[in-house]
Amino acid sequence: MRLSLVLLASGALLVHAATTSLDGIYALVQRQIPQHANSFTFSLIDGGGDSFAISDPASGDGVSVQCTTVSACARGLYTYVTQFGGVDIWWTGSRLSQLSSTLPKVGTPVNGTAIVPYRYHFNTVTFDYTAAFWSWDQWQAELDWLALRGVNLPLAWVGYEYTLIQVFQEVGLSDEDISSFLSGPAFQAWNRFGNIQGSWGGPLPTQWIDDQYSLQKQIVARMYELGMTPVLPAFTGFVPRAFADLYPSSSIINGSQWSGFPADLTDVTFLEPWDDLFTTMQTSFINKQQAAFGENVTHIYTLDQYNENNPYSGDTGYLASISNNTFAALRAADAEAVWMMQGWLFFSSESFWTDERISAYLGGVSGDDSMIVLDLYSEAQPQWQRTNSYYGKQWVWCELHDYGGNMGMEGNMPVLVSDPLSALASSPNMKGIGLTMEGQEGNEIVYDILLDQAWSSTSINISAYTEAWVARRYTVSPLPAAAQTAWQILSSTVYSNSNPDTQATIKGILELEPATSGLTDRTGHHPTEITYDTNTTIVPALQNLVQAATENPALLNVPEFVYDLVDTARQLLANRFIDAYNALVSTYSSGGSAAAINATGQPLLTILRDLDTLLWTDQNFLLPTWLSAARSLAGDNTTYADYLEYNARNQITLWGPDGEINDYASKQWAGLVGTYYYQRWETFIGYLANITESGQAYDSSALSSQMFAIGEAWDAETLNLSTLINGDALSVVQGIMQDYI
Ligand SMILES: *[C@@H]1O[C@H](CO)[C@@H](O)[C@H](O)[C@H]1NC(C)=O
Ligand SMILES: *[C@@H]1O[C@H](CO)[C@@H](O)[C@H](O)[C@H]1NC(C)=O
Ligand SMILES: *[C@@H]1O[C@H](CO)[C@@H](O)[C@H](O)[C@H]1NC(C)=O
Ligand SMILES: *[C@@H]1O[C@H](CO)[C@@H](O)[C@H](O)[C@H]1NC(C)=O
Ligand SMILES: *[C@@H]1O[C@H](CO)[C@@H](O)[C@H](O)[C@H]1NC(C)=O
Ligand SMILES: *[C@@H]1O[C@H](CO)[C@@H](O)[C@H](O)[C@H]1NC(C)=O
Ligand SMILES: *[C@@H]1O[C@H](CO)[C@@H](O)[C@H](O)[C@H]1NC(C)=O
Ligand SMILES: *[C@@H]1O[C@H](CO)[C@@H](O)[C@H](O)[C@H]1NC(C)=O
Ligand SMILES: *[C@@H]1O[C@H](CO)[C@@H](O)[C@H](O)[C@H]1NC(C)=O
Ligand SMILES: *[C@@H]1O[C@H](CO)[C@@H](O)[C@H](O)[C@H]1NC(C)=O
Repeated sequence: MRLSLVLLASGALLVHAATTSLDGIYALVQRQIPQHANSFTFSLIDGGGDSFAISDPASGDGVSVQCTTVSACARGLYTYVTQFGGVDIWWTGSRLSQLSSTLPKVGTPVNGTAIVPYRYHFNTVTFDYTAAFWSWDQWQAELDWLALRGVNLPLAWVGYEYTLIQVFQEVGLSDEDISSFLSGPAFQAWNRFGNIQGSWGGPLPTQWIDDQYSLQKQIVARMYELGMTPVLPAFTGFVPRAFADLYPSSSIINGSQWSGFPADLTDVTFLEPWDDLFTTMQTSFINKQQAAFGENVTHIYTLDQYNENNPYSGDTGYLASISNNTFAALRAADAEAVWMMQGWLFFSSESFWTDERISAYLGGVSGDDSMIVLDLYSEAQPQWQRTNSYYGKQWVWCELHDYGGNMGMEGNMPVLVSDPLSALASSPNMKGIGLTMEGQEGNEIVYDILLDQAWSSTSINISAYTEAWVARRYTVSPLPAAAQTAWQILSSTVYSNSNPDTQATIKGILELEPATSGLTDRTGHHPTEITYDTNTTIVPALQNLVQAATENPALLNVPEFVYDLVDTARQLLANRFIDAYNALVSTYSSGGSAAAINATGQPLLTILRDLDTLLWTDQNFLLPTWLSAARSLAGDNTTYADYLEYNARNQITLWGPDGEINDYASKQWAGLVGTYYYQRWETFIGYLANITESGQAYDSSALSSQMFAIGEAWDAETLNLSTLINGDALSVVQGIMQDYI
């Protein structure tokens, strides 16, 4: 491992710990394109930043990739396989092995340069909403996806607790104290953030802690090998309650209450960083982590103390002292430490985080290169302008887009291809572009285009981009024009949503706890407002996809095509559900009879049944995939498997023992729609009919209790659904079109 100092064009000196060995990139080729294991030649060349040139070799066959960093080598390879080879790697699977046996010539060499030093990926919560139960195979696929797109700064949170527990033990905390602090496998992100503490459904098993730590060793090594600088965790200051009894004179406060959780699960105890114990624990943590993963694998640490958790005091001196001492402790542990933080707080707690307080907090840390702030939601709610570009600290332009792994087509591609460039032009300390989605779920084009914009100094042409993206996504020859038409419609409408209040995946109201008000037209954090006309967007897109499949049935063997077909039909049904719901509420509130309510309610149930049937036709939309991934980590220990399944179920439904953030991470998945959502809506319709019949008033809390009971019972079930797909996607979609268009 060699430490190299890279002098960037902007003049900033960055400590860059990435590898200079090419072994990792050759191993990637071997994994993804084994038939071409010997066709690619990579050579590292001098030069600032991340650049590559791909060309035909001076003699013989193959492709030559010259690159200034290993990350640039991977990006060079990606440029070749996508632009010349016409294949890609997707969240739904890698198709790189379909690269033709005769490699197309490059001709005139093609160069590329990253426009920013950091290409960032992950949100702390992605580790739960998407990756909680990932196996090493899924991690490998993910890391190849990232490397090829040129990501060089990924977050790496897996297995944090293993090291943290040792640090807690060293200061004398008992196993019981520690166990009462740690949260369950599907909820660790919020424990790491200091939002919650403790578990529901049972304490965190030792096996989980050990297995995740082993997995992290593989992940970090692979990230490093692929030319990335992993962002590793640090000690945050959050400690078990018992710490205060053990050290009564230490500088301890309680953090704020989070999302309605009871005091024993929140108000997390925080050791203020000027306490000597903070430095002791930080040093111990970092030392152990370096010993485990290598001391030069990274010097960048993720450390969030105030994510949805307001400081004890708003006094600017207090805030400056917190950050000053936090950073001093980090530097005491690692002399080259750089502190990375998510900037979500400056948006979500905007009233607390006044300009003055942000300036004090960031200003407490000396030096501009000492911190990296993730401007978390740049596509809709950027904070960098109001914070004067984070007062000189390095910052990253990030796309958030997806809350809770929710599903719903949406995107603002025009902003993704323009704002990062204008921000870069006006803010010299913008050092990166990246993705901070809460869940990696659908809408892949809006993530791809941003990571590609990070390698283009001119604004990407959206329609040309979409055309090339579709051509390599669907890979069939000939590709019917209707497939392109479908995507031109989507990219110019659904994926060009300029309303900042509805930017994020648009959640389907069918996933929300039924009620007569408050479901539709939500804006902000979980938008449900549909900002486009379904009949002139989703409908023709779906018709065109079906026409394309009819013209060239080979499309139905392309998993990405089937995914898009099912996803578009899914969106049609989710949107039609809103109309059906409005009709039901209108019947009820205009005094319709019980029979009329029951009758108007039937279409909602029909849509849910049809949606469930549709989702069962594709592997990517199955509840059993999520549940069985959780269970499979338990081997043949049924007790442990049931515990993991409860965690998996609770996260996507009640999210908390008492439905604290009910339905936040809801999904349109086969099995979930057909059992849980169906049961709730059926109960709701029955309830409205009953109270109408008996002349009772609408009692939202009684209704909510009934819904909660359904949730608790559903969470306690164990998997008895098939993990296999059922039905033929095209014929199910055709049936849906007959009924809903
Ligand atoms: C492309 O990269 C090659 C190799 O680094 C370099 O020799 C050439 O000048 C570059 N061409 C352009 C147009 O930048
Ligand atoms: C933190 O909260 C616990 C539980 O409510 C309470 O017992 C303790 O006194 C609080 N500590 C501080 C420093 O406020
Ligand atoms: C890490 O880098 C430092 C500074 O270059 C060097 O002294 C040390 O030997 C390196 N450690 C390892 C394990 O490579
Ligand atoms: C803490 O603040 C002091 C005074 O502004 C400054 O000199 C020092 O460099 C800061 N320490 C760190 C670690 O940023
Ligand atoms: C964008 O690309 C399309 C082809 O897909 C082309 O017709 C259009 O002129 C391009 N727009 C610009 C501004 O270059
Ligand atoms: C509601 O309507 C459905 C379909 O017409 C019917 O089968 C069912 O018996 C009705 N339920 C009630 C409670 O009226
Ligand atoms: C099975 O898992 C449970 C819960 O994690 C654990 O307590 C128990 O010891 C495990 N049993 C075996 C045989 O490993
Ligand atoms: C509606 O009333 C019937 C008859 O009293 C009862 O069996 C049923 O549980 C009620 N349904 C709901 C959803 O309250
Ligand atoms: C599967 O679970 C449902 C809901 O709990 C239950 O009604 C059904 O009997 C179960 N089926 C099997 C085969 O266990
Ligand atoms: C959209 O199409 C549906 C089904 O044909 C129709 O019922 C509805 O009125 C249309 N909506 C609009 C806004 O045109």
